[in-house]
Amino acid sequence: MSMSRRLRLGVNIDHVATIRNARGGTHPDPVRAALLAAAAGADGITAHLREDRRHISDDDIARLSHEIVLPLNLEMAATAEMLAIAVRHRPHAACIVPEKREEVTTEGGLDVRRGADRLAPTVAALQDAGIRVSLFIEPNPEDLDAAKGLGAPVVELHTGAFCEAWGRDSAGEDAQRELRRLQDAAAHAAALGLECHAGHGIGFDTVAPVAAIPTIVELNIGHFLVGEAIFVGFEAAIWRMRALMDRASA
Ligand code: PXP
Repeated sequence: MSMSRRLRLGVNIDHVATIRNARGGTHPDPVRAALLAAAAGADGITAHLREDRRHISDDDIARLSHEIVLPLNLEMAATAEMLAIAVRHRPHAACIVPEKREEVTTEGGLDVRRGADRLAPTVAALQDAGIRVSLFIEPNPEDLDAAKGLGAPVVELHTGAFCEAWGRDSAGEDAQRELRRLQDAAAHAAALGLECHAGHGIGFDTVAPVAAIPTIVELNIGHFLVGEAIFVGFEAAIWRMRALMDRASA
């Protein structure tokens, strides 16, 4: 990997909307958070429009599509409703994520193997609309092969199991095994010609080992940054994350 590698940071603003929705008003505004994230060094904005609209709203997606300069990565379930919304707003990218139990693997990524028939039309329709599709999957070779078979150019590796194990005991066997799974999966993705992203549960303590994996080019991080913003501010939290990523990926 060249010295010029710059690992991209996608800031997920879902939980700014969670806090707003706790009172049903307009504050804090996730679009304002997206603009602040751009100023703080984010390379993209990620937002998950859930079927139950528990955080991000349809209006948030419309406003994000018009008001931010950074590329928007829309996380969405593979449903007809979400597909119509994605095609209407044409975000830079769409990451297909599981929402219902039957779409989820044991650990939490998309069930790309058993769900391939159901996912294929959504992948194709998004690509036809010029949207860059990624599939949120568990870091294992079988799911990567299935993702490749679906024709998506990008995968996002689920880092939840790694972050949980690393948080419990970073020197422990579980943490080391989960890290190896991520490293092996990222290498396998590159061998398949898939662009590789990673995310879920990443914080200051867990970002470095993930950022150091040479074939991962983007991290999507949300909950920790919004939580940390309570203590140090959103921009400062993003700056620090950016610095930790840059150091680990240099
Ligand atoms: N990537 C994907 C595909 C996600 O669905 C999410 C949110 O669950 C994230 C990244 C960000 O995770 P977190 O909010 O835990 O940082």
